[in-house]
This record gives sequence, C-alpha cells and structure tokens, in this order.
Amino acid sequence: MPQTLAVECFEHGVRLITLQRPQALNALTTELLAELASALAEAEADPDARAVVLTGSARAFAAGADIKEMAERDLVGILNDPRQASWHAITRFSKPLIAAVNGFALGGGCELAMHADIIIAGEDARFGQPEINLGIMPGAGGTQRLLRAVGKSMAMQMVLGGESIDARHALRAGLVSEVTQPEYTVERALQLATLIAGKAPLAVRLAKEALLKAMDTDLATGLRFERQAFTLLAGTRDRDEGIRAFQDKRPAHFSGQ
Ligand code: CAA
Repeated sequence: MPQTLAVECFEHGVRLITLQRPQALNALTTELLAELASALAEAEADPDARAVVLTGSARAFAAGADIKEMAERDLVGILNDPRQASWHAITRFSKPLIAAVNGFALGGGCELAMHADIIIAGEDARFGQPEINLGIMPGAGGTQRLLRAVGKSMAMQMVLGGESIDARHALRAGLVSEVTQPEYTVERALQLATLIAGKAPLAVRLAKEALLKAMDTDLATGLRFERQAFTLLAGTRDRDEGIRAFQDKRPAHFSGQ
C-alpha cells in the first residue's frame, strides 16, 4: 500500500494518482518518487490502463524536493541518489500523463508537472524554479524542459531569479494548455484523459513518442521517426476499425491491436 499517494481507477481505463503529503505541501521525498514510479509502472503494465492524471492537493501540486531530506544528503549521497531511477521511470512512461495542477508547483514539483504530456492548471496555480534561493539549481530537468516550454528569456528569469509565475502567465508562455477554476482542474483533466483513453492506444503511444522526439532531435530525424511510426500503424487492426467506423458513420471501438 503506498503511503504518500493514492491511486483510483475510473471507467474507460483512466487512473488518477493523487500525491498525499499535505503536511509538507507534497514535497517530493525519495519514498514519494519511488511510489509514483511504481504506480506508473503498474499503469504501464496494465493493458486496460489508457491514460493517467496526476494531481496534488488544493494548496500544492508539489512544493519541490523535500528540503529536510535534501539537507541530509552530501555529494556522495547525491551521486548515488536513488531518486534518479524514479525520475527515469517517470520519464519512460509511455501512456498519456496529464498533470492537474492547483497551488504550488515549485522546484521538483514544477519539474514533475513538466514530465506530464499535458498540464491543466487551476487559476491559483503557481509555477517556479526557486532552487537558486537555496544556493542550488534545478536538477530534475528544470533547465532543459522549462526552456523548451517557455523559451529562453522566461526560463532564465524563472531559474536565475527564482521568481514564480501564475497560471495565466504559464498559459501565455505555453507551459500549460488550459486554465480552469481550481475546483474543476482535476475534473477537466479526467475528462481529457477519458477523451484520449477512447482513441487507439497504439496510435496514442506512437504519437506521444513522436511529439516528444521533437523536443530532443533535429527536424529531419523527427520527420523520419514520424513517418516510420505512421507506417507502423498501417499494420494495426485499430487503423482498419477507425477507417471502417468512419465509412459506416458509427463510433470506432479501438481494441489496442
Ligand atoms: N520540502 C520540505 N518541506 C516543505 C517544502 C519542501 N520543498 N515546502 C514546504 N514544506 C513544508 C514547510 O516546511 C512547512 O512545514 P512545517 O509546518 O513543518 O514548518 C509546510 O510545508 C508548509 O509550508 P509553509 O509554512 O512554508 O507554507 P507557506 O504557504 O508559508 O509557503 C511555499 C509555501 C512558498 C511553497 C514555501 O513552503 C516554500 O518556499 N517552500 C519551498 C519551495 C522550494 O524551495 N522548492 C524547491 C526545493 S529544491 C528542489 O526541488 C530541487 C530538485 O527537485 C532537484
């Protein structure tokens, strides 16, 4: 039984993972990250799980790495940090992951939200990389993913100045795709997850992979990958079903085959 998060399974293969360390604003301990990696590994292995929503509480999605835990780790401890394995496992999750962010998403919390494929933010959400205030810098992808999401100038301002931005600012900057009233953030993310869960799983998986490729490759390589993925899907039953359903003027029922 996980101690730091809760997993709920909904209809249509949608799962909701809720971080539950309210006493520390969901600060990311080694245990929490390991439990999150394990919950995602379970969703990865279950063919019925088609999309995952990750959320925190009304006050905080996550306020960063747990500073109390971090204070006890020296250089060797950081070099041998087991958290790296958890971050890698989260990065490798191949199914759609939607972050529903209310309140603080700071430091590792902002980095965690950026591991998601889509971020839906409540109006009260705040995104930031305040590590510089602790004499350190982001270490879980903050410098790389934030720059790709919001561009150089804004990323420099947030990382070097340690200033956070609100949800509307994050929307304008392209960090999040939608802003909702805080009480509807999770509902909206679940709705979106249900929509995506109804699509052909193999097409969703390859489309996600192709989109992520765009972040770390040149255009020609990315286009080659896209074409190969597109071609692979021609061998799936879901492609036949999608096209036949369109011609029959009925909804498609995708099996993941
Ligand atoms: N780690 C551990 N505990 C944390 C925490 C964190 N990142 N953030 C908040 N908490 C704890 C506080 O210590 C406090 O606990 P106590 O009541 O036991 O003192 C509790 O959560 C509530 O926090 P505050 O009283 O501070 O709440 P606030 O509303 O006044 O302020 C806040 C909220 C602005 C988010 C403030 O808590 C804050 O600045 N937190 C730290 C944010 C931060 O610096 N994050 C980056 C961490 S480093 C990192 O993330 C690096 C990495 O991943 C690689």
